[in-house]
Amino acid sequence: NGEKGILRYRGIPVDQLAEHSTFVETAYLLINGELPTRRQLTRFSVLLNDHSLVHEDMREFFESFPRRAHPMGILTSMVNALRAFYPELPERSEEEEINVTFTRLLSKLRTMAAMSYKISRGHRVVYPRHDLTYAANFLNMMFDSPVRPYEIDDDLVDALNVFWILHADHEQNCSTAAVRLVGSARVNLYAAISAGISALWGPLHGGANQAVVEMLSEIEASGGDVDPFVARARDRNDPFRLMGFGHRVYKTYDPRAIIMKKMCDKVLKKLKRHDPLLDIARKLEEVALKDPYFIDHNLYPNVDFYTGIVLRAIGIPINMFTVMFAIGRLPGWISQWK
Ligand code: ACO
Repeated sequence: NGEKGILRYRGIPVDQLAEHSTFVETAYLLINGELPTRRQLTRFSVLLNDHSLVHEDMREFFESFPRRAHPMGILTSMVNALRAFYPELPERSEEEEINVTFTRLLSKLRTMAAMSYKISRGHRVVYPRHDLTYAANFLNMMFDSPVRPYEIDDDLVDALNVFWILHADHEQNCSTAAVRLVGSARVNLYAAISAGISALWGPLHGGANQAVVEMLSEIEASGGDVDPFVARARDRNDPFRLMGFGHRVYKTYDPRAIIMKKMCDKVLKKLKRHDPLLDIARKLEEVALKDPYFIDHNLYPNVDFYTGIVLRAIGIPINMFTVMFAIGRLPGWISQWK
């Protein structure tokens, strides 16, 4: 409900899920219609572990991309390539095939995302571990290294779970519409999801989380005064928009932005870190929300406004931000396709 700022997945308010559930439970909820029982969750987690490895031949593919290639471009190509490496098996029923494909995608997208980061840095790929949860495994694959073992911090794992939960589904947005449209031609699910990832890449959609941090950095570099940027956003002759503001559906504060803003404070406090971009973001929000142009146009912070600061604090590089969104949105795409 965009007027009231309410978001529910399968009837459950997103803030409840963010507080009490993990991303894996939320993915199960979206795909199957209800939260898993303990037993269903254990089985689902085992399956996710079983499918977490990526075919070794795919690494050669990865390694052939230019080092400076954007991870979203790599991801969309690799997801499409999954069908070539994991063809349909005639002995499986259609239902079994679909379930395997869901699990494979959920598990491997996370592995491939971390792989693409490691390869882009020229570092050794870290394999998934069966003893780690979905989010902890991702962080470990991203940041563990032979010279410096990664210490998993439960608060950062929680923050990542919340980030992914908040991105898990959002009705008929651009990427979801792309998945449904491409999928309606009965193409395989990998190809449909690959189309969704391509759509998400755009700066007016998932690419906005990267664009927000770039904009805040630009404000910082210009001396930190937000007023000229708000004035440019108001100017009809200037194509500049405040990134992380406005939403097709929400004409009030995006409920996800409220949760993300709190998470921002929590993570920075935990890490005992000060991020000047957070000060600029707060100031920008304060000025914009009092500005008649933003009031008249019902422009409020959206989910992307504070997420970049949380991702930065976790250590995620800026060119991986939209990839992080893609991992989160995957259960929503799958569920809508289904
Ligand atoms: N800054 C300045 N003006 C804006 C902004 C903004 N961020 N967003 C919308 N407007 C203005 C437009 O210029 C237009 O003004 P006009 O009617 O006077 O010509 C009016 O508000 C409506 O704009 P539309 O683009 O038609 O609004 P729509 O609801 O279709 O757009 C969108 C939503 C694309 C998200 C837009 O608000 C935007 O570009 N925001 C910045 C990018 C961003 O943060 N995207 C992330 C969205 S959340 C997500 O995808 C997960």
